[in-house]
Amino acid sequence: MTELTVRRDVPAPRPRVDLSTRLAGRTFPNPVFTASGCAAAGQELDQFFDITELGGVVTKSIMLAPRSGRATPRMAETPSGMLNSIGLQGPGIDAFLDKDLAWLADRGARAVVSIAGGSVEDYTQLAQRLRGAPGLAMLEVNISCPNVEDRGQVFACDPRAASEVVSAVRKTMTPDIPVFAKLSPDVTDITAIARACVDAGADGLSVINTLLGMAIDTDTMRPVLAGVTGGLSGPAIRPVAVRCVWQVHQALPDVPILGMGGIRTGRDALEFVLAGASAVSVGTTVFGDPMAPVRVLAELAQALADRGFERFSDAVGLAHRPPEAALPEGPDPVGDPA
Ligand code: FUM
Repeated sequence: MTELTVRRDVPAPRPRVDLSTRLAGRTFPNPVFTASGCAAAGQELDQFFDITELGGVVTKSIMLAPRSGRATPRMAETPSGMLNSIGLQGPGIDAFLDKDLAWLADRGARAVVSIAGGSVEDYTQLAQRLRGAPGLAMLEVNISCPNVEDRGQVFACDPRAASEVVSAVRKTMTPDIPVFAKLSPDVTDITAIARACVDAGADGLSVINTLLGMAIDTDTMRPVLAGVTGGLSGPAIRPVAVRCVWQVHQALPDVPILGMGGIRTGRDALEFVLAGASAVSVGTTVFGDPMAPVRVLAELAQALADRGFERFSDAVGLAHRPPEAALPEGPDPVGDPA
């Protein structure tokens, strides 16, 4: 059998912009992260580029026990998007700690560990297991996976349920580790859920998880996904995600947001930043372009420099300010050919 050889590219030099960002008291060297579920725990991507170049690596949501996930087919292409009904496949927390997190720590990556559970007790136990784990930089509490058998388990659709999970995790995890709650767009008022999570102790918010969607095969005349419904991601959802980031930042301007949903380019990332995200996750696009996270990082740096920014942080939430206060002094802001 021939071994697969992959390219390990050196990213292009970046312009001189201070890209560092602070998320709930923790400083990251830049604001571009992977997105949970799109890059496992980073090993595969590290064959293409040095993953320590990224602000952080957000791991696939881990549960207490190993899990094979939902039946196949569990991925489907849609116009400008992708449906998945993976069903939280994973090795379970023990193997994750021994292999994946240990590898990330050895590699020197900043690991943002995503956790998922079926009950408050599951999340509490996961947080207990992760306390003091080497390499852990941040916790993302996935309360919004749409691919669960019982819709009542989408904690992010109910302020009280969301609050109970977040409160239990925040109480369990050591104070030095920021706890972010990952929100669902499939709610009437995302700011109500955001507020409930923050009141319960969330240090920040990940905005957004996938939207619940569905496709039907018109030849077989049956649902494409074995799980029937799935989470829609990719460029198709970007305007929804930007709207959610905007609304959450407007409601809670001091709460850091990790923004995600269909980011493919540096300009896409900049949209999230201007809406209020202090960092972004690059997800679905890596399936077609494994270099995307470092490319987006270089493009974002260039887009900021082209608009006269010396510091990334000055761009966060800028679209909320009145136009006369919006633009920094510097190069012609419309001179970006990208
Ligand atoms: O089904 C899944 O594993 C997806 C998880 C998620 O979107 O949170």
